Amino acid sequence: ADVQRYQFDIVMSNVSRLCHAKSMATVNGSYPGPTIYAREGDRVVVAVTNRVAHNVTIHWHGLKQRRNGWADGPAYVTQCPIQPGGTYAYDFNVTGQRGTLWWHAHIAWLRATVHGAIVVLPARGVPYPFPKPDAEVEIILGEWWHADVEAVEKQGRALGMAPNTSDAHTINGKPGPLFPCSDKHTYALQVQWGKTYLLRIINAAVNDELFFTIAGHTMTVVEIDATYTKPLSASTIQLSPGQTTNVLVRADQRPGRYFMAAKPFNDAAVPADNKTATAILQYAGVPASVLPAPPRLMPETNGTGFVAAFHDRLRSLNSARYPSAVPLAVDRRLLYAIGLNIDPCASCPKGSRLAASLNNITFVMPRVALLQAHYGGLKGVFAADFPDRPPARFNYTGAPLTAGLGTSLGTRLSRVAYNASVELVLQDTNLLSVESHPFHLHGYNFFVVGRGVGNFDPAKDPAKYNLVDPPERNTVGVPAGGWTAIRFRADNPGVWFLHCHLEVHTSWGLKMAFLVEDGDGPDESVLPPPKDLPKC
Ligand code: C2O
Repeated sequence: ADVQRYQFDIVMSNVSRLCHAKSMATVNGSYPGPTIYAREGDRVVVAVTNRVAHNVTIHWHGLKQRRNGWADGPAYVTQCPIQPGGTYAYDFNVTGQRGTLWWHAHIAWLRATVHGAIVVLPARGVPYPFPKPDAEVEIILGEWWHADVEAVEKQGRALGMAPNTSDAHTINGKPGPLFPCSDKHTYALQVQWGKTYLLRIINAAVNDELFFTIAGHTMTVVEIDATYTKPLSASTIQLSPGQTTNVLVRADQRPGRYFMAAKPFNDAAVPADNKTATAILQYAGVPASVLPAPPRLMPETNGTGFVAAFHDRLRSLNSARYPSAVPLAVDRRLLYAIGLNIDPCASCPKGSRLAASLNNITFVMPRVALLQAHYGGLKGVFAADFPDRPPARFNYTGAPLTAGLGTSLGTRLSRVAYNASVELVLQDTNLLSVESHPFHLHGYNFFVVGRGVGNFDPAKDPAKYNLVDPPERNTVGVPAGGWTAIRFRADNPGVWFLHCHLEVHTSWGLKMAFLVEDGDGPDESVLPPPKDLPKC
């Protein structure tokens, strides 16, 4: 195993898109930021130096960081932020994982501009479980705001309304020719006829789930969230913020130019953001003056049916070499109802504001990092009493809107015994707005054993679970007005964040954390914190 070292300078950079220039935070001046390359088993050390006027942290999304939450990155969960002028070296081993993941700032909405890909190759000499591609390329989907994202975030936090949507979506930082002034801000993927490409696709958007397609070409999904899948061919795929999808594409069509496109999937009742980013698949030898084949017709923006069908077809590889580790028995059953609420906030400008909750608890960020408080035995920072189910049984998806609008504020964690196998059912509700929510769990991969519309039925639904080859991932969509059941074995001690990866909902409090206790064994406790861990 090798050591991969990187220096990340967080700096202000001038970037212009759509005839609009702005100064924004980037890593080393690039947008998207640099790719981290490693092999399974490597140690990675990324020294992050904060040269901007804001606090910063970086999260390595999808890396499990076993016993090493100190390197996980969410601000006030596992660490205090790196203050202006400060440096913190994220030091971690990439063990038992390989594939496409990504890194992003994990404080406020800074990840809008501070993000990039992580590529973990298999250990030397270990092949992919699919034909070796001729080339590999990262495709990062994102969002561009003319406004300072901080201002958009403030708008989302303070007012009783949703914040403005972005001005464009982007593919590798570029909106593509359908947007004004964007001809030169168009990403082109150069291909040679007959060759096969591995596209490592990442949804780094702030608030949008996205569809992705390539005109005239079929994609074969071989990996999601850095776990191998049975090959699945698809003309359009869907990814939520936080999710990654590797596809194989063979350049086997008439040599030409073909549009790739990313457009939002949004099934909320609120006005949809429908701006499509495009890029070009460019065959070698074809002049750039050739008109590209038009983007494929994609599912409707509210194409819930398409999304359900696509995700239901995903299966983990579950081969002899990569067997599924889905827990068959369950020690701890959790049911978390997702709500968008009105918080009667006396000090707010409007007397109340939008909030979001799990089991009617709107999570309040502490001022000291939770992991530090847990490790150091610091009292009064959090309570470990997060309820295992909603406060009262109600008709989650059919109740009148007023049935459960109330929420309570709290920094409450759920305590989990080391190595317990946990089943968590995430149940959407129709409080205020039904909407699909991509949930991300830090510190773990989980298995998506079931999904359905309406209310989860504990008597009937578990019989329909897939306990053979369920998709293994770190971020999963909870369908609008439906539920998703996940399972994981709590073999990673520490404090691990669970949150909606739509930043607007996270800001409103759609988050909580698990406190996974140490085990008794020699490799079952949280490691001591590094010396340079930032202080609050
Ligand atoms: Cu991709 Cu908690 O984040």
